[in-house]
Amino acid sequence: MKTLIIGGNGKIGKRLVQRCVDAGLDIRVMVRDLGQIEQFVSLGVEAVFGDLEGNISDAISGCEQVVFSAGSGAKSSPHKTLLVDLWGSIRVIEESEKQGIKHFIMVSSLKADAPLRGPERIRHYLVARNLADEKLCTSTLNYTLLRPGRLLDTEATGLVTGKFDWGDSNNAQSCIAREDVVELILQCLSNPDLPAQRRTIDVINGDYPIREFLQDQYSTEMIA
Ligand SMILES: NC(=O)c1ccc[n+]([C@@H]2O[C@H](COP(=O)([O-])OP(=O)(O)OC[C@H]3O[C@@H](n4cnc5c(N)ncnc54)[C@H](OP(=O)(O)O)[C@@H]3O)[C@@H](O)[C@H]2O)c1
Repeated sequence: MKTLIIGGNGKIGKRLVQRCVDAGLDIRVMVRDLGQIEQFVSLGVEAVFGDLEGNISDAISGCEQVVFSAGSGAKSSPHKTLLVDLWGSIRVIEESEKQGIKHFIMVSSLKADAPLRGPERIRHYLVARNLADEKLCTSTLNYTLLRPGRLLDTEATGLVTGKFDWGDSNNAQSCIAREDVVELILQCLSNPDLPAQRRTIDVINGDYPIREFLQDQYSTEMIA
């Protein structure tokens, strides 16, 4: 089952690509700069050009799963947030429906369901994510909507929770290591029974082993 990784050159994306290679998963990476292709080819990974502000349908063609881990980034203008995080997401969701994608994993954000309760500086991003997530949840796709807290480049802990403090208005405590988000994505990709569940999963680092946490989110017998 071929999986397209959108945002494969990003901080989560690069880690995910390496883990997929190690696990022998069949992946394709979409990059927006031809100069980024060679690093993936040297890993034995298929890499194709695609831009969330341009053509994305060729990149999706022939894939059965999509991981969307792209974003315009905190330093970009609100204008880019609209074009990439909102409109780019919506276009990929619509194209994935058209092309019969079997499982769509979206990396969204904690508090995307309540932008006014998030840090002020990223509220416009949370609004964009809210609308894109709504599009996914009302689509015909089978999806896993991951809403991680503030992402850190710290080592994997293997321990997570869905319980966070809404009063933590700067998301100072509500954090998760990118490595742990990658592990969650990998476990979702490796369990073909999960997608039929159409789940939204809030997640930060916590006390539960990732496998147990996912078992709790889904039903026990579905984790192989
Ligand atoms: N930072 C946080 O604390 C946080 C918290 C919760 C959720 N998130 C979400 O998690 C996502 C992934 O995190 P990350 O740390 O891996 O982000 P990242 O390192 O900024 O990666 C984002 C990726 O999106 C790609 N991208 C940007 N514009 C694009 C376009 N027009 N077409 C195609 N690709 C495009 C970038 O391409 P290039 O490599 O070419 O720049 C990059 O590979 C973020 O985008 C954000 O939505 C972030």
